[in-house]
Amino acid sequence: MEKSYNSVIILAAGIGSRMKSDIPKVFQKIGGLSLLDHVITAAKGINPDVIIAVLNPRHKNFDFDFGREVIKVYQKEQKGTADAVKCGLQAADEVEGWVYILYGDIPLVSSDTLMKLSEVSRKSADTALVVLAIGSENTKDLGRLEPADEKGTVKSIVEAKDNVSSKTISLCNAGLLIKKSLLKRFINEIKPSGVTGEFYITEIVRLIHEAGYICRYHKGTERELSGANTVAELALLERNFQEREREKHMKNGVLLTAPETVFFSHDTIAESGVTVRPYVVFSRGVCLESGSEVGPFCLLEGTTVRNAAIGPFARLRGESLVKEGAKVGNFVEVKNSTISEGTKVNHLSYVGDSDIGKNTNIGAGTVTCNYDGFKKHKTVIGENVFVGSNASLVAPVTVGNDSFIGAGSVITDDVEEGSLALERSSRRSVKGWTEFRKKKKCAES
Ligand code: UD1
Ligand code: MG
Repeated sequence: MEKSYNSVIILAAGIGSRMKSDIPKVFQKIGGLSLLDHVITAAKGINPDVIIAVLNPRHKNFDFDFGREVIKVYQKEQKGTADAVKCGLQAADEVEGWVYILYGDIPLVSSDTLMKLSEVSRKSADTALVVLAIGSENTKDLGRLEPADEKGTVKSIVEAKDNVSSKTISLCNAGLLIKKSLLKRFINEIKPSGVTGEFYITEIVRLIHEAGYICRYHKGTERELSGANTVAELALLERNFQEREREKHMKNGVLLTAPETVFFSHDTIAESGVTVRPYVVFSRGVCLESGSEVGPFCLLEGTTVRNAAIGPFARLRGESLVKEGAKVGNFVEVKNSTISEGTKVNHLSYVGDSDIGKNTNIGAGTVTCNYDGFKKHKTVIGENVFVGSNASLVAPVTVGNDSFIGAGSVITDDVEEGSLALERSSRRSVKGWTEFRKKKKCAES
């Protein structure tokens, strides 16, 4: 089959005033990734010839990098979605083909669905446009489809905000795929809405239909195609995203014992054979290798876990690595550290900017004192070391292999291999003191 030329225009120049936030709507995040980046990821997944993001000039202050494949164009005035598409078309080259028009505030659209739209466009040669449709109960803010005939063709899209009564079906617009030649021919004929004064790209459906071409639709799910105009809707999108990710990970063989309580980041990697217990949050940059188990109530960020056990109640962050057979237990924080094979940090510890060798035991309450008020310093602990409970290791410090640190010690300089380091004042013992004190108190009263 001959490859058709595909352009994707993503509309993202709106201010999103209904969000009532200083952060533009399309830069709000779900699963730790902006709405716009989600759409761009889906667009990249269909391998189009060009992706164009239409942005607001005010977005220039925001730090974003979509990769070289995405062309950024700026819509000076937000006159409506048809005007935004016009801006996008200026950046598209002259090659004819099909144009996807996607909304930057419908982030969970998948590459598979975009591919299905293309399949519908190819099914019959007379198709000029395919609407990506969502069956939605909540049509308050959406564009509703008006059918042309019983065979699933569409006559127009009626914008809810225009309040025009017409014979619509219970399907709403969530994106369009249009023949580029027809888009270019009709886009300049779109008139502004009599109600809002905006130029609606959805008007293109009516114009194309009236010119005798066929417009069809493909229906996707509400979970995938819901948009966000308000913070409450943003929260619903986060819920939809989390449901999707949980299903994806379970399908890949990750055991979630209470899936509805586990929260993923867009980039969480979890191999088959991983177990995640209830109430766990994965922030960005987590990789869980097969055999790893994350116990209840843990928060992980920027951490790789290699067939090791984490939690319950553990926090790991900042480029940490926990190797095979290691254990990070309850009320332990690990930051920017490596815990090697078989090493145990089981209770109430802080391990920061540290490298810990194999088969070492870090006692309860151990703290690596990595910050001197100005700079962070490194702690290096060797293999087969025993760090007694409540020890403080004042970095920079190195603890040699096979050494012991006595409980309660404050270690400020290096510990030699195979030695005992004990920093503790000797105990004073006063025999019969309790009896003596009792007598003294009685005499006083
Ligand atoms: C739009 C659609 C509606 C669809 C709904 C799905 C139009 C006219 N209406 O309505 O049919 O059901 O999305 O959520 O297309 N934008 C620009 N420039 C502008 C205006 C908007 O780039 O001048 C961008 C926004 O950043 C946003 C997207 O276009 O990402 C949609 O704009 P929005 O105002 O959210 O339109 P809706 O009212 O949701
Ligand atoms: Mg919208």
